[in-house]
Amino acid sequence: MLERDHMKPITIASTIIAPLPAAGSQLVMDPRQICKKTKRLRGKMADICNKPVLLTQISLGVELGQKECQYQFRNRRWNCTSSRRSIRKVLLRDTRETGFVNAVLAAGVTYQVTRACTTGELLGCSCDKKMKNKKNKKRLKMASMPEGEWEWEGCAGENVDFGLKKSKDFLDTRYRKRSDMKTLVKLHNYVAGRLAIKNHMRTECKCHGLSGSCTLKTCWRKMPSFRDVGNRLKERFDGAAKVIAGNDGQSFMPEDASIKPPSKMDLVYSEESPPFCLPNSTLGSFGTQGRACVDTSLAEEGCSILCCGRGYTSHQVTEEKNCRCKFLWCCEVKCEKCNETRTVSTCS
Ligand SMILES: *[C@@H]1O[C@H](CO)[C@@H](O)[C@H](O)[C@H]1NC(C)=O
Ligand SMILES: *[C@@H]1O[C@H](CO)[C@@H](O)[C@H](O)[C@H]1NC(C)=O
Ligand SMILES: *[C@@H]1O[C@H](CO)[C@@H](O)[C@H](O)[C@H]1NC(C)=O
Repeated sequence: MLERDHMKPITIASTIIAPLPAAGSQLVMDPRQICKKTKRLRGKMADICNKPVLLTQISLGVELGQKECQYQFRNRRWNCTSSRRSIRKVLLRDTRETGFVNAVLAAGVTYQVTRACTTGELLGCSCDKKMKNKKNKKRLKMASMPEGEWEWEGCAGENVDFGLKKSKDFLDTRYRKRSDMKTLVKLHNYVAGRLAIKNHMRTECKCHGLSGSCTLKTCWRKMPSFRDVGNRLKERFDGAAKVIAGNDGQSFMPEDASIKPPSKMDLVYSEESPPFCLPNSTLGSFGTQGRACVDTSLAEEGCSILCCGRGYTSHQVTEEKNCRCKFLWCCEVKCEKCNETRTVSTCS
């Protein structure tokens, strides 16, 4: 099934099997391990596990998701530390944190696989043909476009459907036959993660014609930045809904009957988070002793929240910095050196 369109020449030589990411051992979920552990590889799992190039992209996607988790949680008591001893424990539970990690991993795999398809690193994925056929309908919708001919350039666009499908095949297939609460919640959060990409695709256009006169335009679909995806999921984390099992054993509903049922884009969880204040290996908590905090903040990075009321110690750090910079005609910038003092606080 090698159905790449025109435009982008493919060099087969570029499909050398890339080594696993350096952080391979720190990956919360190693696709190669999962393939090894799946007893009888059949159907969709076999399709994926027998494709080393795709597997490498999936690993990179897991890494991308994990890095974003660390960025989004950098100021929280549980900071999504890359230690497997912690993140794996968190994934065994069903808290808000579990929900976020699952969503961001599903998004990371979608993103990476889609990108690899765009750059030609992955074969067997076609251009974004769907949009091409929608040419006329879409044209009406985009009133902001100036007059003139334009068309979808499917091959410049990103085939997010391909990434979505591979993420689903790889992550969801293993749970197909289960309908316990944790599985239902997990699958829901995987979908929420993917929708944070799919529902926010952007349209980009390029003008052609005499000196950029835009008599002809080509447009394509592009994914948001992965930071945007992470920011959106973090918002969903903050507003995540606690759910309980439904009567039929096949569904869940909000614990608080007065709140509206979560949408597909919302994150859900069924278990309250531990405080993550003290080390507890069962919970994957390292505690917050020694963590840097901001003594003037009342938010999550503030010492009062981060240190769980245990107190903190502060000391002054002085650094030499550039200051009072002047622009000299022409073309030089001259600065003085100043000593700048700031307070560094760490949790007791
Ligand atoms: C760790 O957390 C578990 C679950 O909440 C609890 O049962 C256990 O007592 C805790 N262990 C320590 C050492 O605090
Ligand atoms: C995350 O927290 C752990 C312990 O709680 C700490 O050792 C580590 O440095 C923190 N990571 C970052 C990036 O702040
Ligand atoms: C900054 O502080 C250091 C160490 O106290 C000192 O040697 C240096 O001269 C200071 N620099 C300025 C620009 O005051």
